Amino acid sequence: MSRVKIAAGNWKMNKTATEAVEFVQALKDKVAGADTEVITGVPFVCIPSVKKAVEGSNIKVAAQNMHWEENGAFTGEVSGAMLADLGVEYVIIGHSERRQYFAETDETVNKKTHAAFKYGLKPIICVGESLTQREQGVTSELVRYQVKIALLGLSAEQVKEAVIAYEPIWAIGTGKTATSEQAQEVCAVIRKVIEELYGKDVADAIRILYGGSVKASNAKELFTMPDIDGGLVGGASLDLDEFDKIVNYN
Ligand code: G3H
Repeated sequence: MSRVKIAAGNWKMNKTATEAVEFVQALKDKVAGADTEVITGVPFVCIPSVKKAVEGSNIKVAAQNMHWEENGAFTGEVSGAMLADLGVEYVIIGHSERRQYFAETDETVNKKTHAAFKYGLKPIICVGESLTQREQGVTSELVRYQVKIALLGLSAEQVKEAVIAYEPIWAIGTGKTATSEQAQEVCAVIRKVIEELYGKDVADAIRILYGGSVKASNAKELFTMPDIDGGLVGGASLDLDEFDKIVNYN
């Protein structure tokens, strides 16, 4: 089954709206006609201007988080309805930095995933183990658990549209990339658990990304592994040439 690869940038808390527009305007020409689906995960405040700047191009926009409620007394939060109103296509959910610094849990990830679909947003759900968990030998069990809870109660049609990003925490922003074999092994575990839950059709359709120190020099090796359908790219997505090369890795 051939799945369209994804190169998704996660800018994290980087770039002002002015810098963001400058960046995507330059990126547009470089990635026009790419075979890869191009997504930029930008800070909330950049979304309106970035959406406008990418109009008519093949660049899609992701938010980096959302609340599961539609509205209410949740100071500082942004809802799926608000993102949908801006025309956002994707939303990153449960990034390890959100889990670590903002107390997100598998349960909130599940609620947010449901809310994303409710508002027509495609979730990019992040899972992955810490170095200690890898050394304890529980990576597969942990990732299977994270995926199961994240997807709880979703329909097969929804799961087909979801994206899972496997991001070993020890490889994020550290320059330590998982080897393509290590990344493939866990992405295959994820596809397997989805097959157990939803059947082969859904498992064949869902896209599973690798994230953790992806750069131009390792993108091809990672993205051509059988169960890796692209990358969720942090640091390297902030650099125009690097991200261009990752998008056009083939
Ligand atoms: O969401 C992206 C990941 O956290 C990876 O970040 O490419 O800077 O290691 P990184």
